[in-house]
Amino acid sequence: MSASFDVVVIGAGAAGLFCASQAGQRGLKVLLLDHSEKVAEKIRISGGGRCNFTNIGTTPAQFLGENPHFCRSALSRYTPQDFVELLQKHAVPFHEKHKGQLFCDRSAEDIINLLLAECALGGVTRWQPCAVKSLDGPAQTGTDFYHIHSDRGLIQTPQIVIATGGLSIPKIGATDFGYRIARQFGLKMIEPKPALVPLTFDGLDWQPFAQLAGLALPVLMETGAADASPKQRKKATVFAEDLLFTHRGLSGPAVLQISSYWQAGEPVRVNLAPGVDLAATLLRTKAGSRKLVANELASLVPSRLAEAWTSTDEALQRPINDATDKALQTLAQRLSDWQLTPNGTEGYKKAEVTTGGVDTRELSSQTMESRQKGLYFIGEVVDVTGWLGGYNFQWAWASGFACAQAL
Ligand code: FDA
Repeated sequence: MSASFDVVVIGAGAAGLFCASQAGQRGLKVLLLDHSEKVAEKIRISGGGRCNFTNIGTTPAQFLGENPHFCRSALSRYTPQDFVELLQKHAVPFHEKHKGQLFCDRSAEDIINLLLAECALGGVTRWQPCAVKSLDGPAQTGTDFYHIHSDRGLIQTPQIVIATGGLSIPKIGATDFGYRIARQFGLKMIEPKPALVPLTFDGLDWQPFAQLAGLALPVLMETGAADASPKQRKKATVFAEDLLFTHRGLSGPAVLQISSYWQAGEPVRVNLAPGVDLAATLLRTKAGSRKLVANELASLVPSRLAEAWTSTDEALQRPINDATDKALQTLAQRLSDWQLTPNGTEGYKKAEVTTGGVDTRELSSQTMESRQKGLYFIGEVVDVTGWLGGYNFQWAWASGFACAQAL
């Protein structure tokens, strides 16, 4: 027995659900299938359970990929405001947290229910769980159709949308399915890497900082070595966000953001006291204070940090008026331009997203169709990765929408 559809969307996550709903509402006979029993698990756990579903400040500048312009067309044709209108249509309450990030007031379940309702409106058929064993292209079938061999039988369709996401969080269903299909049809890939992920450090190197686990503070963070040229530094992306010390390394929004840009072997740079001229302030204080350096420093940065930074240097374990100018200047320099080299990341089990994926040079930025006629790729499986802050879901909606208009 075989089933036939106008389009089969593989992957019932954010991009797949939205694309299927829009294609269905355009009158197409749509099958949406996913190997997981549960629908949209990543939406369910996103944004701490409240789903940061978009960012009202979305522009192409908040996306990474080999071709940073690829996302431009889709993002301009389906905007955060369009998705907000969809929430309003379904009476889903939401709020802005900060920096344009929109979250559900109640829970991420509201977004899943909205997408399922939109799929129902489009008459979308959903098969879950349904595993794909193999897929033959028109060249193999000798027809205009793809044949999908699934554990629910043979499916025939002239168009397939791959929306199987990246490799992050394998325990809730992430696989390399999309990448394998891309390779099967000779499409190039950009090497995938975990991103929006905590950074780790060599155990011994990290020992002095492990005592700071749990400490969070606002910082400026960027990638690149101290000897980078002024031009390179000007080009570097700097994030002003919170950093969190952990037992194994660094986490928090600043670190997750920078992890997407970080290359193995490269240092990261942190200004632990942004907005303060530490050297000038410490030297001024020295003139009129007999307090310990650590105590004076604690008025400028968190006291645990002040303690940790001064405790390893004898020249600083004294009243500030006894410390040399040089010792204070060195302390200020180390705090405002702390340079350290991660030995890796926490990997896919902790990463919120995957950078890399299907090479955008293989896809139309208007339709998401690949060089292989009738085969489309949308969402995170594509080499387009957003910053932390709702941008990745906006890409899922926008790429899904662009694709649905073209099917
Ligand atoms: P997604 O991963 O959502 O869906 C892929 C689907 O394909 C899954 O349902 C999977 O089961 C299915 N699949 C995989 N392999 C398959 C196979 N072989 N056969 C059939 N089906 C298969 N972003 C954001 O903008 N705001 C936020 O608040 C967050 N928060 C967040 C928290 C956490 C913990 C994570 C891990 C991620 C986020 N993200 C986020 C990122 C966001 O979740 C992610 O970018 C989108 O879900 C990507 O949508 P896709 O539809 O492309 O993939």
